[in-house]
Amino acid sequence: MALLKLQIRTFCYILVILLWISAPQLSHAVRRYPYFRDQEENPGRQPLQMQRPFNIAHRGSNGEIPEETAEAYMRAIAEGADFIESDITATKDGELICFHDLILDDVTDVANHTEFKDRIRTYEAEGVNTTGYFAVDFTLAEIKTLRARQRFPFRDQSYNGKYQIITFEEFIKIALNAERIVGIYPEIKSPVFVNKHVKWPGGKTHEDIFVETLLKFNYTGKFFSEAWKKQPLFIQSFAPTSLFRASNLTDSPLILLLDDVTVNTQDTNQTYAEITSDEYLKFISKYVVGLGPWKDTIVPPNEKNYLATPTDLIKRAHAHNLQVHPYTYRNENKFLHFDFHQDPYQEYRYWIHNMSVDGMFTDFTGTLHLYQEWTSPLSGL
Ligand SMILES: *[C@@H]1O[C@H](CO)[C@@H](O)[C@H](O)[C@H]1NC(C)=O
Ligand SMILES: *[C@@H]1O[C@H](CO)[C@@H](O)[C@H](O)[C@H]1NC(C)=O
Ligand SMILES: *[C@@H]1O[C@H](CO)[C@@H](O)[C@H](O)[C@H]1NC(C)=O
Ligand SMILES: *[C@@H]1O[C@H](CO)[C@@H](O)[C@H](O)[C@H]1NC(C)=O
Ligand SMILES: *[C@@H]1O[C@H](CO)[C@@H](O)[C@H](O)[C@H]1NC(C)=O
Ligand SMILES: *[C@@H]1O[C@H](CO)[C@@H](O)[C@H](O)[C@H]1NC(C)=O
Repeated sequence: MALLKLQIRTFCYILVILLWISAPQLSHAVRRYPYFRDQEENPGRQPLQMQRPFNIAHRGSNGEIPEETAEAYMRAIAEGADFIESDITATKDGELICFHDLILDDVTDVANHTEFKDRIRTYEAEGVNTTGYFAVDFTLAEIKTLRARQRFPFRDQSYNGKYQIITFEEFIKIALNAERIVGIYPEIKSPVFVNKHVKWPGGKTHEDIFVETLLKFNYTGKFFSEAWKKQPLFIQSFAPTSLFRASNLTDSPLILLLDDVTVNTQDTNQTYAEITSDEYLKFISKYVVGLGPWKDTIVPPNEKNYLATPTDLIKRAHAHNLQVHPYTYRNENKFLHFDFHQDPYQEYRYWIHNMSVDGMFTDFTGTLHLYQEWTSPLSGL
């Protein structure tokens, strides 16, 4: 009897040792496949870091690659993005796509497509008349024949004409298929304009279709819940009523974007002063987990391009338990205030250490990532 027990125990030891030896090989085998559909298949998938301010890849790594393309998002993930960010608008046939502008003119080759030359229109949107090729006048199939190009002439032009505009679903799949957990940060873009020009069956709205898409891919859960950590998501909008609508349809965290101090909200026509008052912050904190302000409204530069005195918005937002994720950090000299000595690392140091932000929208994910890796390496992952 004693001998049998000993043999069983020995067998167990050997089994444990064998498993221990093979574990690295197993995890290596898993790692060889770059795409994972679900968490169970890949228990070792690196979680979202939550030790330092979020690195939010603004329109992908658009400092390098034409904005909102699959390639710009994949570059951002390779460079260390915590979240990939996108503007979700709609086509004439009601498909949601990743595209920032109302018109296709500035970042695609639409002007070279003679088959669309009768498609130019003038519409009023957000208080101005704009003329061009509007995305809402093109079907998804037509949009897919276009190719993206770089917005700014001083950035790399060598990717122009190569990449397509992608759909919201394609964007989501890029995040879900990443080797580590990468969050998404989609914006309900220009909802007043989109709802005026695009119609969905059953009277559904841009906000409804947007949230339905997220639910279809199982995005759910309050900020920092276990479900949220598996598929991290922030829904952003400049339009308070779109956020109220979304809050009725999902418990996912919402972010209120803040435009320039001179711009009223597109739906409720509220001023910047109104929506940043303590009273409003108290009210909106029942719906949203944070604010996305333009950084130059928090620390306005003076006429010599030096920082002036910061406002107290971040302190007041934190007092209402709201996150603050300012936009947009860019490496180029022309975007850096002179206090930073033409050094983007000094700008990140200021916003992280002096201003205590919780996340940053950057055109150069790689730069922010390296700064954070060098100054506050992650522990315990
Ligand atoms: C249109 O084509 C011309 C010549 O091929 C090219 O130089 C130009 O950049 C293109 N325009 C756009 C908007 O892509
Ligand atoms: C846009 O153009 C229309 C037609 O010319 C005009 O009635 C309207 O006032 C313009 N809107 C703005 C904001 O300029
Ligand atoms: C969402 O979750 C359900 C139930 O767990 C699962 O059957 C379905 O495949 C998931 N969908 C996606 C797109 O992951
Ligand atoms: C949210 O739901 C409530 C209750 O059903 C409803 O009264 C309200 O109008 C909804 N708000 C929005 C913006 O959809
Ligand atoms: C929006 O509010 C401003 C005052 O902040 C007012 O001048 C303007 O007429 C309003 N616009 C609309 C469309 O109500
Ligand atoms: C940031 O804070 C440090 C002290 O922690 C201070 O020395 C520095 O002047 C501050 N930077 C700016 C631009 O205010």
